[in-house]
Amino acid sequence: VVDIRSFYKDSGMFTYDPGYTSTASCESKITFIDGENSELRYRGYDIADLAGKRSYLDVSYLLMMGRLPTKAESEDFDLEIRHRSFLNEGIIRLFDALPDGAHPMATMGAATTALSAFYKDHLHLEDEEEFKTMRRRILAKMPTIAAMAYRNSIGTPLIYPDVNKYFTENFLYMLRAYPGGNMKYLGGGKNDEIKQVEVDALDAILTLHADHEQNASTTTVRNVGSTEAHPYVAISSGIAALWGSAHGGANEKVMDQLRLIGDVKNVPSYIAKAKDKNDPFRLMGFGHRVYKNRDPRAETLKKLQDKLKEELNLDSKLLDIAHAVEEAALSDDYFKDRGLYPNIDFYSGVILTALKIPVAMFTPIFVIGRIPGWISQWSELKQDPTHKIARPRQLYTGN
Ligand code: ACO
Repeated sequence: VVDIRSFYKDSGMFTYDPGYTSTASCESKITFIDGENSELRYRGYDIADLAGKRSYLDVSYLLMMGRLPTKAESEDFDLEIRHRSFLNEGIIRLFDALPDGAHPMATMGAATTALSAFYKDHLHLEDEEEFKTMRRRILAKMPTIAAMAYRNSIGTPLIYPDVNKYFTENFLYMLRAYPGGNMKYLGGGKNDEIKQVEVDALDAILTLHADHEQNASTTTVRNVGSTEAHPYVAISSGIAALWGSAHGGANEKVMDQLRLIGDVKNVPSYIAKAKDKNDPFRLMGFGHRVYKNRDPRAETLKKLQDKLKEELNLDSKLLDIAHAVEEAALSDDYFKDRGLYPNIDFYSGVILTALKIPVAMFTPIFVIGRIPGWISQWSELKQDPTHKIARPRQLYTGN
């Protein structure tokens, strides 16, 4: 902490805190993290009691409404989300303008920003119904945007949502199905139906990504929201922040890295590279700003991975390499001294691969999962009458 009052005589005490490692930017009642004790709670509920035990939509309701839904509320919410999952044709035409090979994250950011041109309810947020609808709509549409962004990137015809399907199954359907006739899935056989075990696994993954207090993307959403910008533009800025490899983009990089390592016998040389201060190489999926002990989301995913090993036919070579990396890092003083443990991104990739999800969709799945968190954090900001525009100061060192 540097007292820079001498620089800014007009103001009180300033803290110089690069990367905001010890600055709380807001008060919040949504998510609790205890990094020392590996604890993560949504609205007071332990993450281990939610992931795989309550549906992702129930958890979304919990984050957005502050409590778990009753059975009737859960059914109504599910139905509403199904019916709001369609995109305006204008948004769909936007996909045509983007080239084959565009990263789905780029397309998702563009489509989400474009939503603000179609829905202007942010002008009437004092209307409780509009406020609620605006939050639910973005949750409902994100899987459609993500699946269409992917299909557009590989030049495959787009698939519209099916209201007969639950949120997570619908996403897998839109991602994999070919239009018309038999369901033939991308990466699967002709009669390769979506299995319940696949839906449940992805549902749990989405729950584990649903919120994580003031991480880089959520802080970005709050910062943009604090300027009174449209909520969907704030969400779009969250998508941009999440894309980076130090944040949500790490899950894609973990998979690339495991493939690059290629064999268990190569693990020691990559560990050595990660420790070499003259080499920018970092072990992707390791380390976290808040968890200097185990990441509880990673722990839950690891258990899920073990459970799904047989049922989903997980790639055993990749799993072996992942286990070898984990073991080598956890027994190495470099990683121990710095509190570098596997984070959520380290484990999600192997499961997502078994779900036939292309690597380019790993970060988009993180986006889908994180929507209830971003939108709840944005709402909390808006409902706080004392909130201020985010406007940090600087320590000027120029001429
Ligand atoms: N591999 C090797 N060394 C690492 C790693 C890593 N993955 N992560 C941190 N370190 C080292 C740093 O070099 C630094 O060493 P030093 O003290 O000798 O200089 C020390 O550990 C502290 O690292 P910082 O970058 O200062 O820690 P910070 O809290 O700022 O960064 C971060 C956290 C960005 C997650 C970092 O650990 C990282 O880059 N990890 C890899 C990318 C990743 O997995 N990101 C996903 C995070 S989880 C999420 O966003 C969902």
